Amino acid sequence: MKLKCIKCGKEYSLDDVRYRCDCGGLLEVTQKELPGPQIVSVWDSRLGSKKAVDQSGVWRYREMVLDEENPVTFPEGKTNLYTLPVRKGLFAKHEGENPTGSFKDRGMTAGITFAKKLGFRAVACASTGNTSASMAAYAARAGLKAIVFLPSGKVAAGKLAQALAYGSTIFEINGDFDDAMRIVVNISQDMGIYLLNSLNPVRLEGQKTIVIDMLSQLDWEPPDWIIVPGGNLGNTSAFGKALRELKMAGIIEKLPRIATIQAEGASPFYKSFKNGFKSFEPMKAETVATAIRIGNPVNFEKAKNSIIFTNGVVESVSDREILEAKVSLDSAGIGVEPASAATHAGLRKLEQSGIIKPHEKVVLVLTGNLLKDPDIVKRIHSNEIEGFERFKDQIIKVNPELDEIKSRLREVIQ
Ligand code: F0G
Repeated sequence: MKLKCIKCGKEYSLDDVRYRCDCGGLLEVTQKELPGPQIVSVWDSRLGSKKAVDQSGVWRYREMVLDEENPVTFPEGKTNLYTLPVRKGLFAKHEGENPTGSFKDRGMTAGITFAKKLGFRAVACASTGNTSASMAAYAARAGLKAIVFLPSGKVAAGKLAQALAYGSTIFEINGDFDDAMRIVVNISQDMGIYLLNSLNPVRLEGQKTIVIDMLSQLDWEPPDWIIVPGGNLGNTSAFGKALRELKMAGIIEKLPRIATIQAEGASPFYKSFKNGFKSFEPMKAETVATAIRIGNPVNFEKAKNSIIFTNGVVESVSDREILEAKVSLDSAGIGVEPASAATHAGLRKLEQSGIIKPHEKVVLVLTGNLLKDPDIVKRIHSNEIEGFERFKDQIIKVNPELDEIKSRLREVIQ
């Protein structure tokens, strides 16, 4: 296994601590060749094992991640694939069911395991919240120091609570995620701290298992579409790589198409897609989905390759559409944070424009748990956001008087 530049092809040792090629290109991990479709029975056999490394929905597929028998694991990645009754052939892979409540745990178990192996004592990331929560938890488990850079005032309450509780040191930057990202790259290089953003190619090897695990749950019958929210574009990149490797090994034949969904106010990837990827313009980002409030995604080049390779599309949705989709998923008992709901909003839009056909099989990747962002739920359900007046009577304030409560209750159950 090596690090290889996706731009010029130059190779480096996997143990080289670097996040870009000398030419500036992004690096990816080159994997050893898989033995072929028979590897699937090895992966299946691990399901019955009591060992954490086998139970993990990341390390169960270690032949496609890292050669590691003793990783830093909780274990993670045992997430459900739900059917969604609103549409035939619609599934949701709920990554909010990971130990810290987001998909980030899949990349972080790989990244922290590798940081420990390289002998680092401190790890760092810039984050819109979930990466910091995940990194702080895994660093605590591994006995490493965690340093996080967050955009001040723009991290949802649940995520900030986690980063604090798990013991990380927090630098609140008076700026946005893109500022924090620029700073952390600089600092980690200068100060001998291991960088755990998705710029780190090892992390993306863990994130590939979202797709591997989903396909295993579908008995290796690929869907027509995988829909994922796009921020820093780590998932879009990792999904393309996973599909490429699975196809090369003959484990799947058909390639699902990737649809990446961005928030309108943070949609540089969408805009680039619209002009045929001829140019890319970073933007100042703003959206209610704070997880994807990113204007200059570092993984742009890799994500572009994923969209081209899978004949995919990029769509953008408004904050209003995101919140309506969130209400729809939440009220089905599934529950997500706003960024994850962008997938459902994107599906609606892509169906309306005829790009996704009603008979096609679709998997939404729900990236984060409902409890990550309790404030937005409160705002939607207490009439603080225009357009959601229908929830205005959901909370009924009463005195502790039986007759009064009964009379109000009659109105509710009638
Ligand atoms: N959904 C959630 C819940 C996220 O937290 C993120 C990214 C994304 C989607 C976007 O994924 O970057 O792979 O395109 N969160 C990062 C963080 C940036 O710092 O937690 P992506």
